[in-house]
Amino acid sequence: MNKPFYVTTPIYYPTGNPHIGSAYTTFIADTLARYHRAKGDETFFLTGTDEHGNNIAKKATEQGVSPKEYVDNYAEIFQKVWQALNISNNYFVRTTQPEHEKFAAQVIQKAYDNGDIYPDSYSGWYCESCEAYYEETDLVDGKCPNHPTKQPIYTTETNYFFRWSKYQDWLLELYQTNPEFIQPSKWANWVKEFVGSGLRDIPVTRANVSWGVTVPFAPEQTIYVWFDALPNYLSTLHFPQFAAQNYYQKFWSEAVHVVGKDILKFHAILWPAMLKSAGYPLPKTILVNGFFTVNGQKIGKSNGNAVDPVELSQKYGVDAVRYALLSEFKIGNDGDFSFERLDVKYKSDLSANWGNLHNRVIVLAEKFGVDTNNLLAVTDKVVTAEITKAETEYHRAFANFELFEAIQAVGNLASFANKYVADHKPWEKIESAARVIINDLAVVISKLAELYVPIMPETAQKATNSIKSCEKIILFPKLD
Ligand code: MSP
Repeated sequence: MNKPFYVTTPIYYPTGNPHIGSAYTTFIADTLARYHRAKGDETFFLTGTDEHGNNIAKKATEQGVSPKEYVDNYAEIFQKVWQALNISNNYFVRTTQPEHEKFAAQVIQKAYDNGDIYPDSYSGWYCESCEAYYEETDLVDGKCPNHPTKQPIYTTETNYFFRWSKYQDWLLELYQTNPEFIQPSKWANWVKEFVGSGLRDIPVTRANVSWGVTVPFAPEQTIYVWFDALPNYLSTLHFPQFAAQNYYQKFWSEAVHVVGKDILKFHAILWPAMLKSAGYPLPKTILVNGFFTVNGQKIGKSNGNAVDPVELSQKYGVDAVRYALLSEFKIGNDGDFSFERLDVKYKSDLSANWGNLHNRVIVLAEKFGVDTNNLLAVTDKVVTAEITKAETEYHRAFANFELFEAIQAVGNLASFANKYVADHKPWEKIESAARVIINDLAVVISKLAELYVPIMPETAQKATNSIKSCEKIILFPKLD
């Protein structure tokens, strides 16, 4: 059955070019979007940039430009990088768009009208990189838990607080009655524990940050970046061009937010409470990805060892980079990504297991006169069973956001076919028998090209074209 599908990435801070970490989350969202489009589901895929706050204003000052000039430049860079990485987002949202700013102001106003926002003074350890306050007990060796090199500053401020604590029981009830809300489930357990240990109200306006959205009921203050950023997922659906097509009604209840584990707290605990307070229904799923290191080293803009995903793609091709990342660890787990692994996967999984199989079958089809543009139904029941097994597992895995498992199912089908060629040696058979075997194998390579569409879109398209024209193609060229 066709259903609308809505997938989002976090809106990234434009404090540097996108790195391989942000590309990973974006690849996950893109793969899900492409899977649903291929299924015929009406799909909306949103990414964008989170452009307010002191960190951005500071970066702009460092570069000697205005915050507006700074974010305009980076919004363009992000869009170019996503284009170079063949990301199929339907829209790119920026929190400095007036339509978004208006919506974010309405959200906080609605929470205020609902009695959930009150003025108070606050003291705590403020991490400038997170733009968030921590309690003494949250700190690790006196440093920010997310930025071990950053010294948080003890700050006292008078601002407006959100009654987060009021939603503690409601949230616990939500996780209990809706176990699919946070996936994979180990992260749901983490969230339950966090909420169970008690929620404290948090300041959601800032007196000393001028680069932000004005608080409608306190115009001398601006909205806290997270209270401004999270509504992007909802504000975009209300932008005039999307409101005209009823996007909110169509997509909101189907929303899947793909986020890294570092920002799970905001998405699984703060965002639902904000929505409840402002009177909106909830998204469907928060899908959490773990963090990976590159060659054993932590990556991140603040660590200065960010890997450029575009450079990597120029060497291996975008599809191989996507494949290597998505097939290396299960979504939700941490892992390591190394150039050696990328090389191995390129040569074994891609070039040998898929690329060679594809060409072997095309060459055989050409030689034995099998019309790959008009394939017949599969004859060998064993082949039919393998195709069905792969497809069933693939769709089950996608329905559960298990991309690693979906990729394995396709890879297993390719391995089966490679063994089938070696075992059945069609070139040693009489022509009619050979043609039956080759037809079955050609059905398998068509299936591989179809199932790989969401994972390696460009290569899958090339494979499909080569089957249609029955012409050899090098799917994965030799690396220099
Ligand atoms: N602006 C906020 C998000 C607001 S969403 C309403 C933000 N931006 S960020 O630029 O810091 O992006 C963080 C996200 O980048 C992580 O949640 C994760 O999706 C991705 N990753 C950054 N480094 C990563 C790894 N090393 N590994 C995996 N994902 C990584 O937070």
